Amino acid sequence: MNDADLIARYDGRVPRYTSYPTAPNFQAGFPQARYGEWLAALPEEVALSLYLHVPFCDRLCLYCGCNTTVVRLDAPRRSYAKLLIAELEMVAARIGRRQRVSHVHWGGGTPTTLPADCLVEIMAAARRLFDLHDDAEVAIEIDPTSLDAGRLQALREMGVNRASLGVQDLDERVQDAIGRRQSYEITKHCADSLRGLGIDSLNLDLIYGLPLQTEESVALTAEKALGLAPDRIAVFGYAHVPWMKKHQSLIKDETLPGALERFHQRAAIDRVLTDAGFTAIGLDHYAHPDDAMAKAAGEEALHRSFQGYTTDGAPVLLGIGASSIGTLPQGYVQNQPSVPAYAKAINAGEFATVRGIATTPEDELRRAVIEQIMCHLSVDLDSVAAGLGQSADALHRNAEALARFAADGLVVRDGTRIRVTEAGRPFVRNVAAVFDAYLDTASTQLKHAQAV
Ligand SMILES: C[S@@+](CC[C@H](N)C(=O)[O-])C[C@H]1O[C@@H](n2cnc3c(N)ncnc32)[C@H](O)[C@@H]1O
Ligand code: SF4
Repeated sequence: MNDADLIARYDGRVPRYTSYPTAPNFQAGFPQARYGEWLAALPEEVALSLYLHVPFCDRLCLYCGCNTTVVRLDAPRRSYAKLLIAELEMVAARIGRRQRVSHVHWGGGTPTTLPADCLVEIMAAARRLFDLHDDAEVAIEIDPTSLDAGRLQALREMGVNRASLGVQDLDERVQDAIGRRQSYEITKHCADSLRGLGIDSLNLDLIYGLPLQTEESVALTAEKALGLAPDRIAVFGYAHVPWMKKHQSLIKDETLPGALERFHQRAAIDRVLTDAGFTAIGLDHYAHPDDAMAKAAGEEALHRSFQGYTTDGAPVLLGIGASSIGTLPQGYVQNQPSVPAYAKAINAGEFATVRGIATTPEDELRRAVIEQIMCHLSVDLDSVAAGLGQSADALHRNAEALARFAADGLVVRDGTRIRVTEAGRPFVRNVAAVFDAYLDTASTQLKHAQAV
């Protein structure tokens, strides 16, 4: 089957499966009291992962799909920092002890838009309220254009040991078209400064499918990105959803590469990175073979959370901040996405949860299958079901839909094991979607991005 036929067949809108059930299936009006009960019931021995969301940026990139706004004044940033500390205190009080934390992830928006002293203070509060071991991973997302000397120093004081830099594209014409000017020198200076501080585990984010990009231009960006000696590179397909993100309508549909062109751009980046010895991981990550993520992938010990692929095996993730999502043994919860609504709840001494879902045993089975497919491109349906003490019958019925994928060379069936081939890697979400029991309504589909 040629590329055009593959695209015609598989390029629908499918979830990225950073959770299962996926966020559009969370129910509105989730009771805050229930979140409190879930926290109070956390087993003592379980390690936690904390996610801290900062929904502010210095600039608004036209393609941005994140929950963020441009905030330039210090006062709202300082007030928000206080809210994060207040929420950490509320959560810790409800758990009722200083629970162990193995991983902290700061995301956004751009977390480093908070004043340096606020960043240090929030991290100190997290260490006071939770038991953060010396070997805990502390990761942060950084916009290289907005990291001044004071904030750099703050990262050291916070104990950050992993950083992710937004790059997207290094071609100036593309940068102009997406409203994000960022010279190679600025990005390099940022990477070098972080390494100078001892933060030498670096990820770079790239995007394909943006206006004016070509196969050649994205390959060149990937080559230049390798020159920054990253440990990991994430390669995202541009998700153009102007009906959900109004500012994206400033990117005109007619300037965007078509589905086949996107497919070829993805392949061009893949070639550059794998030729350089990087290991392809799951849907959209690449890691240096010495990096922990490449090793975890080799040992089938990789996980998928709202931050994408992670080596963090903590089964519970607590989301702190506006729009943050938490994963608990009982299900998922999401905070108010709007900062004023989030502030109102926290200032009233209440949790800010607005949406959520209690997961069923069937959800847990399907989540395990989908996570293995997304992380390892391989799953044994019977062993996953047996591990959870459940029947695999429904999964086998779903798997019948994979006959077409197998005929197209995208998956191989080997008894009860399903393996996604290298040709199938770009379509791994479509394979996972076969096991998604919620994915039929058109309204749900509109909320997801293009498959390739
Ligand atoms: C929170 S930002 C990273 C940190 C920082 N704000 C920055 O941009 O440098 C998260 C990443 O999401 C990706 N991203 C944002 N909007 C996207 C979209 N519409 N489609 C695909 N990827 C997107 C970008 O690669 C971006 O680096
Ligand atoms: S891509 Fe990053 S810097 Fe740009 S608007 Fe989105 S969150 Fe902010």
